[in-house]
Amino acid sequence: MKSHYTNIKETDLEQIAKELLFEIQIFFENENRSCVVFLKGDLGAGKTTFTKFFAKIFGVEGVIVSPTFVLRKDYTNLIHIDGYRFEKGEEGKILDLEKELQDKGKVIFIEWPEKFVKSVGINPDFTIDFKHLNEEERDISIIKF
Ligand SMILES: Nc1ncnc2c1ncn2[C@@H]1O[C@H](COP(=O)(O)OP(=O)(O)OP(=O)(O)O)[C@@H](O)[C@H]1O
Ligand SMILES: [Mg+2]
Repeated sequence: MKSHYTNIKETDLEQIAKELLFEIQIFFENENRSCVVFLKGDLGAGKTTFTKFFAKIFGVEGVIVSPTFVLRKDYTNLIHIDGYRFEKGEEGKILDLEKELQDKGKVIFIEWPEKFVKSVGINPDFTIDFKHLNEEERDISIIKF
């Protein structure tokens, strides 16, 4: 996995998702808890779109929808959270993630972590930053902690 990908088209996301999954598998060899991935970037930058590609190669069946209106959506071994609608960080406590944070093999994707993670005390194992370059292309940075 590279730390920076430039001029990424939507069709390139599957390959990046595969590289991330490989890193997450290494993470699970070393850690006995869930893997937390923060997804950052402006509205429409591609956070949900990337999540869909990741879910597909991670073996999640069915359609991944944006969790914007439900805050949290659970799939087999993948939890997808969108903090966009939280007005105060404390509202993030409603997500009640304590238990799942300790579940080995579970991946937790969080869009808009800026909105609540400080209040809830969740730290990232990976942060992915999406930058809008033009209609079809994005720059993507990945930090592994
Ligand atoms: N290279 C690309 N990578 C990601 N998305 C792309 C790319 N090119 C075009 N798109 C389109 O941009 C849109 C990205 O929307 P998406 O819902 O993934 O954004 P988001 O970051 O989740 O936004 P929000 O903060 O509103 O949840 C989609 O319609 C997608 O098809
Ligand atoms: Mg989204």
